[in-house]
Amino acid sequence: MTSKLWDADPDPTPDVPVARPRLPTADDILPYLREIDANRWYSNNGPLNQRFQEGLRARIAVGHVVCLANATLGLALALMAQKPAKGSLCMMPSWTFAASAHAAVLAGLVPWLVDVDLDTQQLLPEAAIQLLRQAPGKVGAVMPVMPFGGPMDAANWDRFKSDTGLAVAIDAAAAFDSLTPSRVPAVVSLHATKALGVGEGCFIASDDGALIDEIVKKANFGFANSREAASPALNGKLSEYGAAVGLAALDGWTLTRAAYQRVARGYCRSLASTSGVNVQDGFGERWISSTVTVGLPSDSMETALNVLTQARIGVRRWWGGGLHRHTAFEHFPKVPLPVTETLVATQLGLPCWTDLSDEAISRICSILTDAMTAG
Ligand SMILES: Cc1ncc(COP(=O)(O)O)c(C=O)c1O
Repeated sequence: MTSKLWDADPDPTPDVPVARPRLPTADDILPYLREIDANRWYSNNGPLNQRFQEGLRARIAVGHVVCLANATLGLALALMAQKPAKGSLCMMPSWTFAASAHAAVLAGLVPWLVDVDLDTQQLLPEAAIQLLRQAPGKVGAVMPVMPFGGPMDAANWDRFKSDTGLAVAIDAAAAFDSLTPSRVPAVVSLHATKALGVGEGCFIASDDGALIDEIVKKANFGFANSREAASPALNGKLSEYGAAVGLAALDGWTLTRAAYQRVARGYCRSLASTSGVNVQDGFGERWISSTVTVGLPSDSMETALNVLTQARIGVRRWWGGGLHRHTAFEHFPKVPLPVTETLVATQLGLPCWTDLSDEAISRICSILTDAMTAG
């Protein structure tokens, strides 16, 4: 067994993979592709993008939505549009995916890695206020993260932003199902592995129309209504083909959600009496995700990895050892990270996809339960 258990999947080709995404089929997408053929409009806020954005906006009941190329670029753009001082710190939890830090660097900021609250696995606004007092430099932005799609009280971040004047961008990459409206921009990934997937894509939701307008410009070379690049920008647009898949995915969302809920509930039921194993609050009841991440009893990660790998069941430590262990980020400033270390040692992703059978879920859970009980 390697000393860095988070380095790689223990078994890259298990019998039961950890994820097996299913996006809309060719038949589902075809009517939208025919529209593209007729429109001869392939990108640059075409009619399908506009309809997809409106569908997302209505579902979330938020003021404004813009669709973009992926959430990594979306997070960078959401930060850039708020113009934090170049080279300033972007406070973010170390307990997140690599993309959060890459986005801050892309926006000209320096990630400052901080700890999270144990119950919610999130950086909370009250903690962020306290942390500001011990910042190792000028803080320009904060990036809270919604862990594995778990809900966040975004209104508190609206207050934080107006109280501090700092740029705030919520990394809501996996949170399509639990997102609530806020002025602070929330960036949701539409990657194939997410609950609503188009392949590669994202959307940013916000009640702040002026901010979304600024993001739209920054995602289109800094052009407003002319060919002049008015400020540093990039190309982050979603093509009409991405929007076509998105519209088909929205058509099927009720069924997709029900399928993920069946899986989530199956795990919750089967693990309910396994002592020390838990899931995030409300998972499978108030919200769903395209992943199942369970908290294990302390010191049982290695046992769990061994028994599941031996049974050829795929597992994934989605956020590895935390940002502070990535070669690309280990030199960034950080505070002590005891809660992050606890989560690194206990959180394990189990197989999750829409047609994962109830029998497979029961088997995975009984293997895990037996190992936890024996251990
Ligand atoms: C927390 C988090 N942030 C950002 C991203 C990046 O999303 P994308 O693949 O759309 O760039 C991911 C992707 O899984 C993620 O999990």
